[in-house]
Amino acid sequence: MRFVKNLFVGMSAAMLLASCGAGGDNQGTEYAPNMYHSVAYEPYSQIVDEDAGRWVTSIEYPDGHAEFFNSNKLNGKHRMNMRELPPNTVPRNKHGWLPYRLGKDSLAFAAATLKNPLDSTAAIVGEGKVLYETYCDHCHGPKGEGNGKVADKYAGVPNYKSDALKSISEGHIFHVITMGKGLMWSHASQISVEDRWKIAKYVKTLQK
Ligand code: HEC
Repeated sequence: MRFVKNLFVGMSAAMLLASCGAGGDNQGTEYAPNMYHSVAYEPYSQIVDEDAGRWVTSIEYPDGHAEFFNSNKLNGKHRMNMRELPPNTVPRNKHGWLPYRLGKDSLAFAAATLKNPLDSTAAIVGEGKVLYETYCDHCHGPKGEGNGKVADKYAGVPNYKSDALKSISEGHIFHVITMGKGLMWSHASQISVEDRWKIAKYVKTLQK
């Protein structure tokens, strides 16, 4: 009798331990799996087993699979539900803008072709002023005359009203902010595309 009891306990323990074996694609036996598995599609994974969750839930879908099956069969690539982007897709930022592709040495081309997409409203020029005072004023000076506080130590800051600069286009200013020029470094990492165009609008008002 005792032997039978021991055998029973031993076998139960062995079964219990065996059910803990998880690894790779096998998650082992899960306790309360409906706490881990979402019924909705998960973008980065798929549960491809049609019977997944059948033992624990009574929900069955019309096409015969159990609750946890969540595979979008149209997109089984890499076992992700997420659709792959079509080839040659170009990422845009949250404003819908394409990446800037002109090289640093394309200033003349940028100056001639780029158009400011923003309107010349008082609100936009006003935002440009605030941004200018944050990012440019300390070198270029409050009126763009090249006499900011840093310009004392950082020689070569030009006057926006000089003959060479007074008629530059907004595209020119945008390109210089984005790529830098000569002694001036690129400000692309600090200033968003939209804000650069706002600053360009404001710089034009300083040249008047
Ligand atoms: C660290 C100082 C410094 C800061 C900050 C700075 N600049 Fe400049 N900027 C310069 C210097 C120096 C030059 C002259 C570059 C050269 O030709 O070598 C220059 C040149 C320019 C030019 C003329 C480019 C040309 O074609 O000759 C423009 C336009 C300009 N900056 C706009 C801006 C704007 C807008 C900002 C703010 C986003 C800004 N800069 C921030 C130092 C600075």
